[in-house]
Amino acid sequence: MEISIEKLQELIDGSDNIVFFGGAGVSTESGIKDFRSVDGLYHMKFKYPPETMLSHSFYVRHKDEFFDFYKDKLLECTCGENPAKPNAAHLALAKLEEKGKLKAVITQNIDGLHQAAGSKNVLELHGSVLRNYCEDCGKSFEASYLYKAAGVPKCDKCGGDIKPDVVLYEEGLDNSIMSRSVQAIQEADMLIIGGTSLVVYPAAGLIDYYRGSKLVLINFDATARDSMADYSIHGKIGEIFSQLKI
Ligand code: APR
Ligand code: ZN
Repeated sequence: MEISIEKLQELIDGSDNIVFFGGAGVSTESGIKDFRSVDGLYHMKFKYPPETMLSHSFYVRHKDEFFDFYKDKLLECTCGENPAKPNAAHLALAKLEEKGKLKAVITQNIDGLHQAAGSKNVLELHGSVLRNYCEDCGKSFEASYLYKAAGVPKCDKCGGDIKPDVVLYEEGLDNSIMSRSVQAIQEADMLIIGGTSLVVYPAAGLIDYYRGSKLVLINFDATARDSMADYSIHGKIGEIFSQLKI
């Protein structure tokens, strides 16, 4: 059922175990492109399809081209001249957690903006551009080190290749992050899903663990799972959250 912001406010006021499940649409109002919107990354023209370039096999076989794409399209918004900042959606979620009403943010995003907004319990299903490790000795590196490196970033300790801690296609998700996400969703009295097309598994399948009757879907476009929502609001999630009294 499509609801008003007032109804969303009422649902939030009446809940003290909220879990948020989000995707790239949470960060578009911070200036980061999503993937599948009409102006998203996957609608742009590249030598290879972006979903191919973000796969493990492409990473292994074409590291130079992987890092060209990765730095230009995924790292630029974090390390470039105008790094993305948390928007009203990130900030509202952090405030709900601070007030003890929200227990976890489960995100498919790798931009670290929820933590930058102050959220503490953030479950990053697809990893983070902020964590990078040498494939040989395991030394960790800041994102800026990769951003500044020419070509494939190399470890300054052993010369090994550095890999971002992001989950590429064909790679598995972290088991403990997944089980903590399942538990949070099972225990939630309210599940808010925002800014995601819900088409990538296993992430999208997590919402099936929700057992309550306050599943709110906040998304600009219709999603693959609109019919399972108890309530929905179609619009910009930052704008919507900025109208809430938290
Ligand atoms: N407010 C609300 N919804 C928005 C906004 C906004 N400001 N901007 C975009 N959206 C919606 C779009 O309508 C779209 O349905 O967010 C959704 C984003 O969907 P995707 O681009 O598919 O992003 P996401 O669901 O996070 O993709 C999941 O796919 O390629 C992989 O690993 C990548 O984590 C990503 C996964
Ligand atoms: Zn090393």
